[in-house]
Amino acid sequence: MTVRHATLQLMVSIAIFCFLCGINVGEQSGIKKKEMNDKITRLMQQMTREEKIGQLNLVSLGFDITGPIVSQNVDENIRNGLVGGVFNTYTPIAVRKIQELAVNSSRLHIPLIFGYDVIHGHRTIFPIALGLSSTWDMKLIEQSARIAAREASADGLQWVFSPMVDITRDPRWGRISEGSGEDPWLGSQIAKAMVRGYQGDDLMKKDTVMACVKHFALYGGAEGGRDYNTVDMSRIRMYQDYLPPYQAAVDADVGSVMTSFNEVDGIPASANKWLLDDLLRHQWNFTGFIVTDYTAINEMVDHGIGNLKQVSALALKAGVDMDMVGEGFLRTLSESLDENDITQQHIDRACWRVLETKYKLGLFDDPYLYCDENRAATEILTIENRLAAKEISKRSFVLLKNANQTLPLNRRGITVALIGPLADDQRNMLGSWSAAGDWKQSVSVATGIKNLVGDEVKVVYSKGANIIDDPDILDQLNANGGDIILDDQSLEILIEQAVCETQNADVIVAVLGESQGMSGEAASRSDIGLPENQKKLLRALFDTTIPVVLVLMNGRPLTLTWENDHAAAILETWFPGTEAGNAIAEVLFGEYNPSGKLTVTFPRNVGQIPVYYNHKNTGRPYDGHSMEKYKSRYLDVSNDPLYPFGFGLSYTTFEYSPLKLDKTNLTGNQLLTVRVLIRNSGTYAGEEVVQLYIHDPIASVTRAAKELKRFEKVFLQPTEHKEVAFDITVDDLKFYNSDLQYVWEPGEFIIHVGTNSQNTQAVSVHWFK
Ligand code: BGC
Repeated sequence: MTVRHATLQLMVSIAIFCFLCGINVGEQSGIKKKEMNDKITRLMQQMTREEKIGQLNLVSLGFDITGPIVSQNVDENIRNGLVGGVFNTYTPIAVRKIQELAVNSSRLHIPLIFGYDVIHGHRTIFPIALGLSSTWDMKLIEQSARIAAREASADGLQWVFSPMVDITRDPRWGRISEGSGEDPWLGSQIAKAMVRGYQGDDLMKKDTVMACVKHFALYGGAEGGRDYNTVDMSRIRMYQDYLPPYQAAVDADVGSVMTSFNEVDGIPASANKWLLDDLLRHQWNFTGFIVTDYTAINEMVDHGIGNLKQVSALALKAGVDMDMVGEGFLRTLSESLDENDITQQHIDRACWRVLETKYKLGLFDDPYLYCDENRAATEILTIENRLAAKEISKRSFVLLKNANQTLPLNRRGITVALIGPLADDQRNMLGSWSAAGDWKQSVSVATGIKNLVGDEVKVVYSKGANIIDDPDILDQLNANGGDIILDDQSLEILIEQAVCETQNADVIVAVLGESQGMSGEAASRSDIGLPENQKKLLRALFDTTIPVVLVLMNGRPLTLTWENDHAAAILETWFPGTEAGNAIAEVLFGEYNPSGKLTVTFPRNVGQIPVYYNHKNTGRPYDGHSMEKYKSRYLDVSNDPLYPFGFGLSYTTFEYSPLKLDKTNLTGNQLLTVRVLIRNSGTYAGEEVVQLYIHDPIASVTRAAKELKRFEKVFLQPTEHKEVAFDITVDDLKFYNSDLQYVWEPGEFIIHVGTNSQNTQAVSVHWFK
């Protein structure tokens, strides 16, 4: 074959490929489709087979290790054109150095793409994602992603491995901390807000970054809450409850998708053609590129679907474009092509997508677009960013109990005993996946209180217990960067000192919970209570009879039944980020009235799991109090959770008027307007998240008891009232039927409006075709 003939053939096959894949290269503003196509076509004509496969290789290099193995011979591979992207390296200087290697020393001078786990902030750290979701504030969530994008792009990066949108109903799973909780509709709103925040309206701008929605798909369904475990669920459950947030990210034009470690319907996600090609590419029209999770291709050998060569070929054919760290593509694809197990088109398709992304990010125009040291010096960890983090943190806290208005605390003339292993701690404030966050920049609770009240309030401090003292768990945590420094005094002595400090106190503020390493990746727990040693401390504090305000830090729902019985107040603060202590102090002393609501159910005990608000009714629903035997319930615990989805108290109280509907009989595309008047009936200004749920009592498939469909956050001064109006259309009645069609069926619908998923008023409407 002559060179000219080969070139022509490549051009024709690329043109056909673009057409077939529906790649829409013109979507983004400022990108001229033809120019881009010409550039990539020209480049691919010059590329050898090895160089094309090289573009599919993503290596980990630099500051962090986020998986079981690290990439080798990176410099040499970059010079030989065998690397497409790098992650775990940041700062303009470090990125420039590696980019120069690619641009100056590789044959075709193709720039690399630089990615990183920017999950809840880059250098300025926001609350963990579960906390961010508890704000129920899409503007703030978008703002947090926008700030993260500005900081990351000023730090050399153009690609972030976020948002993580895995729905989960199992708090034993440590990665529940990284997601937005259990609700698919709320999760979808958050997914869109985050993609908007990261990507802005133009990826070519130097302060926007490409998002990567993960982990596709169903990673949060791991059996027993054990990380990386098998997932098995019906298609109808996938479509209805687990897939919507990924689809929402795709609808918001997310640039990339990361596959998950688990299997989906018996086939690991990274080789699942149905998942990646039929669903993602064809049903959802995803046009960006697909990267695997860390060594996910290699792990398919252990999953048991082939050797490295086979699983790599399967992944490519299923639609994977980039192989994270494992180098299965690099090592085996060429041979698979010789053996006709894959085609040249498969390789070209993936290579094209990677090059196209680099083009869209502006890297071909300027490989150093994101290497601006001046930006790094002026746009990272700024006072404004810290202030934004503080505001967002305050709004992520959830007040779980407040007996006798224990909170807010008086700002003058009281003595506070500040007790607990997290009370004067900086290391754990950021939570897991805190990226390039520097814990030394974080504010402890002790410092935050001092900053706010100075000498007006007397604060005495005592540690009282270590975070955890179980040696087996400690060893594991510390072996993996847990950084738990033990106070080697015995627990008895630590408790005695703490109790002694409480003697003249008016109130005890006990800051307890998990260390940052006790949730997040590979941090599943079968017992999700406070560690035993902290419980002993708490028991001693309760025994003093001084009111105890329990301030919690944790990356998952904890079982708190006993704590709830005895504490005067409980404030859930998750892991609040860089501004932790300042934000907590402002809430404890009433500078800000808490408004967060849970996006995940808190169980009474581990045996109740999975317990989630949008459950089915069953054929034998239990009414919660009768003694009847043959009902769906436990002998030893209620069916109700300790704190339901959507729950969260305020220092003030809100009254809901009866619901007003503009119609109760509707047809077709009519609009239903549901109105409710909310009044602040207490003495503090505050915000309430008004929630609307719908139940479809009779349908061709069984439906959830309630599903969140709308919410609005309203701010009210004392005695002020506001009307909240929700417009409902037939789109809000839709669900997946047993043929997986997204439909609505006429009949009765129950509309619930209330302050949380359990406490609602209900009215019924009839909606006909
Ligand atoms: C995690 C991903 C992460 C990747 C890269 C994996 O272990 O599952 O969420 O983006 O590592 O660090």
